Amino acid sequence: MDTNKKYVALVTGGTGGLGTAICKRLVKDGFHVVANYNNQDKAEKWQAQMQNEGYKMDMYQADVCDYGKVEAMVQHIESEIGPIDVLVNNAGITRDGQFRKMSMEDWDAVLQTNLYSVFNCTRNVINQMINRNYGRIINISSVNGQRGQFGQANYSAAKAGMHGFTKTLAMEVAKKGITVNTISPGYIATDMVMAVPEEHRNKIVAEIPVGRLGGTEEIAHLVSFLASKETSFITGANYAINGGQHVY
Ligand code: CAA
Repeated sequence: MDTNKKYVALVTGGTGGLGTAICKRLVKDGFHVVANYNNQDKAEKWQAQMQNEGYKMDMYQADVCDYGKVEAMVQHIESEIGPIDVLVNNAGITRDGQFRKMSMEDWDAVLQTNLYSVFNCTRNVINQMINRNYGRIINISSVNGQRGQFGQANYSAAKAGMHGFTKTLAMEVAKKGITVNTISPGYIATDMVMAVPEEHRNKIVAEIPVGRLGGTEEIAHLVSFLASKETSFITGANYAINGGQHVY
């Protein structure tokens, strides 16, 4: 790789809680950041805020559940900016509820957004990474993919699936200069976690040995580490970052 080149990093769900921190950190660390988003209104406000704060990044719209839309987005990024060096599969949602009451719609929504998106995005960047002999793929999973969580059969299934994907793809592309890793955050202070009813959230925080929710910047720091070119011997790994909530 050209050592003076700015590496291009695509962050899916870039305007969300974790996505924002990841985008900012990658900009600070010298990446050319492309934030993917789906909601146009939210994205416009987000972009204005980023500009006010002095962060320069590009934004591309695509529903990551839709293979054709992701394919078109990747083609636009490649022709307008250049090939994608780093893919952060970060987009995700929750639709919590006990499994015995879970609708097919809530199952599908979570599997599509959290797991099928990983296929849609990775499949569209992997061949150019193979051709260029370089790539960093970082899948944002969850502590609840490593263990169970009452009310998250859909989410836990999708997040555990992400790491199965990581392990196999890591083996398949290891000789092509591409690393594939999973990060499994615990409970982080994002809107997603703040949406958990307070009574349940308080019980969860009480289970965290560090005694607090994680910070989004703490996850972003690990993403940036794995996105760097110096981490070429780390692949197929799953980094737990959960304040000691799940140790194994
Ligand atoms: N463990 C055991 N039993 C539980 C329970 C738990 N954690 N939570 C609820 N229950 C039991 C209740 O005690 C109650 O039992 P009884 O009927 O015997 O009294 C029963 O389940 C009530 O269940 P309901 O379906 O009526 O609904 P609820 O109002 O209790 O809510 C829930 C269920 C929505 C799943 C709620 O438990 C909840 O929000 N839990 C937290 C889920 C969670 O952690 N989500 C993480 C979101 S953030 C994220 O996902 C990011 C990340 O990666 C970490």
